[in-house]
Amino acid sequence: MNKNEELMKLAYKAISDGKERVNSDYHRLKYHLMPPVGFMNDPNGFININGEYHLFYQLNPLFPKGKKVYWGHVKSIDLVNWQQLPIALSPGDWYDKDGCYSGSAVDYNGKFTLIYTGNVKNSCGNRETYQCIAQTEDNINFIKSSDNPVINNQPEGYTRHFRDPKVWKHDGVWYMVIGAQTVKEQGTAILYSSYNLFDWNLIGEVAGSNIEDLSFLGYMWECPNLLNIKGKDVLIFCPQGVEKQGDLYNNIYQCGYLVGNLDYKTGKLNYKNFMELDRGFEFYAPQFMEDDRGRKLLIGWIGLPDEDEAPTVKNGWLHCLSMVRELDMKDDRIIQKPAEEMKLLRKNEISYRNVEIKNEQVDFNNINGDSYELLCDFSWSAVSEFGIKLRCNETLSEETVIYYDVKSEKLILDRDKSGLSLKGVRKCDVKNHGNLKLHIFMDTSSIEIFVNDGEEVFTARIYPNRDSRDIIFYSKNGDVKFDVKYWEL
Ligand code: FRU
Repeated sequence: MNKNEELMKLAYKAISDGKERVNSDYHRLKYHLMPPVGFMNDPNGFININGEYHLFYQLNPLFPKGKKVYWGHVKSIDLVNWQQLPIALSPGDWYDKDGCYSGSAVDYNGKFTLIYTGNVKNSCGNRETYQCIAQTEDNINFIKSSDNPVINNQPEGYTRHFRDPKVWKHDGVWYMVIGAQTVKEQGTAILYSSYNLFDWNLIGEVAGSNIEDLSFLGYMWECPNLLNIKGKDVLIFCPQGVEKQGDLYNNIYQCGYLVGNLDYKTGKLNYKNFMELDRGFEFYAPQFMEDDRGRKLLIGWIGLPDEDEAPTVKNGWLHCLSMVRELDMKDDRIIQKPAEEMKLLRKNEISYRNVEIKNEQVDFNNINGDSYELLCDFSWSAVSEFGIKLRCNETLSEETVIYYDVKSEKLILDRDKSGLSLKGVRKCDVKNHGNLKLHIFMDTSSIEIFVNDGEEVFTARIYPNRDSRDIIFYSKNGDVKFDVKYWEL
């Protein structure tokens, strides 16, 4: 048995040994992707190929006892029902022995091809970084190229924090954007080009915190994506080391974007402001893909590096991925909406119209649960605060609250009393126009809230008790009117 076969055996043993315990956990999600056992982080290789969506993810099946980073693999025809496939990559070669780190997938002249980072820690503990290729004939078994690595370590001026290749084709040429760190410990994203995926030419930096007005953007940029929406080029990336500024950049690590025009000759993006993609608490390392209908799709990790605390750890698993979102652009800002296929999951619609509440709390005896979609449309003229308490249980004093503070014009997600583990609040600015739309997706241990048709999004893990199921609408100092639609998912 060669090293990769040995490692595959080890992974499947961990999966079969851990499966029962993992599946007995109440906090397993109903409609989000999770690791079969162990630790999941970044989505990788998101692609629409041969009429199917394929998605890979960083998987450490040995967690919490050991660490070996593989690529898990799932596929789907509708972005909501996913089929687990055999593990695609194992870290059994000299150039990826300490992890098959993040990367992307392309259709290279009909060949389904993965490009990923081989992570190596050499005997002195120093890092080496190799960009590698694997290809498949049957969309299931991936063979690493005998030409690996196709990029050997980093160019001059950068450290070996050099990873996460995202590859795409533009005007007949292949491009790769890669996350990097300068020797002065500034985060940056670097552009390469190639005619064949094997020989790469360095073009230059797309942007970086070595540029004066981006100097607040930390010491390392992970998981960059370059995409074009409505004629605008967008760099989505995850800067590490950004300091909190008021209600901005409150997560441990950030995820955001710059919008502008990319000069493919110099690699430079002439950007405007850095914007957060998500208002928290957990959204990281998203991967972009354009499907055969021209939709711009994004999926992220609902987790953060170094935030490894959760009640699921004792059951042998941690983290999940977000729902797939469709991206659009309005006034140089990304708009995110749940992929329309999410509607396939809807069951038992219940709706109420023109409900009025004045300094009171209301609930509806047929609207509650732990896995649902809730669409709420509020309007008001004079009120100081209103919102929704989700996953409530009065006896247990549990609730997860999303509310609008009219005076400060802030929308606030409060998980201080959500249940076990993670706590805190996140706020974002939402102008008071006298109305507010909240589109909420609750799963057993996650919440995603799309605000005003995707102008803002909050994404977070919560760990409520299985008996915390009530939904309560409330207003303070005034009245608010709303329509609500509910579906069980
Ligand atoms: C982001 C990240 C990537 C790296 C991968 C390793 O979460 O740190 O930069 O490729 O995770 O699992």
